[in-house]
Amino acid sequence: MQIIQDIALTKSLCRSLKQEGSLGFVPTMGYLHEGHLSLVKQSVKENPNTIVSVFVNPSQFGQNEDLATYPRDLERDVALLQECGVEYIFNPSTQAIYPNGFDTWVVPDKLADVLCGKSRPGHFRGVATIVLKLLNIVSPDHMYMGLKDFQQQRILKQMIIDLNLDCDIVACPIVREADGLAMSSRNSYLNPQQREKSLSLYQGLLKARELFAQGERDCGLIINTIKENIENSGGVIDYIECVDPLSLQSVQEAEADTRMMLAVYFGKTRLIDNMALKA
Ligand code: PAJ
Repeated sequence: MQIIQDIALTKSLCRSLKQEGSLGFVPTMGYLHEGHLSLVKQSVKENPNTIVSVFVNPSQFGQNEDLATYPRDLERDVALLQECGVEYIFNPSTQAIYPNGFDTWVVPDKLADVLCGKSRPGHFRGVATIVLKLLNIVSPDHMYMGLKDFQQQRILKQMIIDLNLDCDIVACPIVREADGLAMSSRNSYLNPQQREKSLSLYQGLLKARELFAQGERDCGLIINTIKENIENSGGVIDYIECVDPLSLQSVQEAEADTRMMLAVYFGKTRLIDNMALKA
C-alpha cells in the first residue's frame, strides 16, 4: 500500500501503472463508508490497478458550510481501502492543490444553476475544478462515481465531453443503510431522533415510485405528497423536484426516466437523495 502526497510522484506512478492496463480512479473526501467502498470494489474488479484519492476539497464548501467539522479519519480509510485490495492512495495537502496564487477555475454553467447548485453557489465550481485537477494528475481510464450525487456525476460527465478528456465515468448505484437511508459521511452528524426521522426521505422516494406505478404523472401532485410526509417528520425542505435526467430541468409530467431529486435539512445537517420514478 502506497500513500502518496506528492503530485509529481503520483503523475509518474500513474503513467507507469497505465502500462499494465486500464487504470481505475475513485475520487473521495474520505471518512469512507460502504457507499464509497462499492465504487472502490467495482474499480478493483474491473481494472488491473486502482487509485483512490482522499482529499477534503475546501473550494467546494460554502462560507457557512461544514468544512471545519467535516469528518476525517485517514487511518481508518487506509485500513478499509487495504481490505478492498487498493494499493495506491493519493492524499495531497491543500497547499499542494491550491498553492498561493492559484487563480484558474472550471465553472459549469446551466447544469450547475439548478438543484444543489442553486442552494450551494460555487459548490460545483469547486467540484469541477478539483476533479479536473485530479484527472490531470491521475489520467485514469475510468472514474467511478456514485449516483447518490446525481447532479455531480451529470455535471462531470458533461465536463469530460466539453473539455475532451480521455476518461469515462462509471456511475454506480446508491448504497443504503439497512433501513433505506442513503449512506453519507454526513449521516454521522445526525442525532438518534434525526436519524430516525431522516428515513422519510427514502420513504418519500418510494412513495413517488408507487404513485408513478399507479399511473400518476402529475409531478406537482407527486411532490406535494412527499413534501407533506417529510415536513411531518421535521425535515426542512431545501428542494424536491422531478427533473429530466440529462438537462436536470424540472418537468411537470413524469416520464419513465424522470428523476426525483431532494435535499432536506434535519437540524443543520443537509441530506440529499434521488431515485428514478420508474422502478
Ligand atoms: P464524497 O462525498 O466523499 O463521495 C465520493 C464518491 O462516493 C462520490 O462519487 C459519491 O457519489 C460516492 N458516494 C457517496 N455516498 C454514496 C452512496 N451512498 N452510494 C454510492 N455512492 C456514494 O463526492 C465527493 O466526495 C466530492 O465531491 C469529490 C467528487 C471527491 C470531489 O471533491
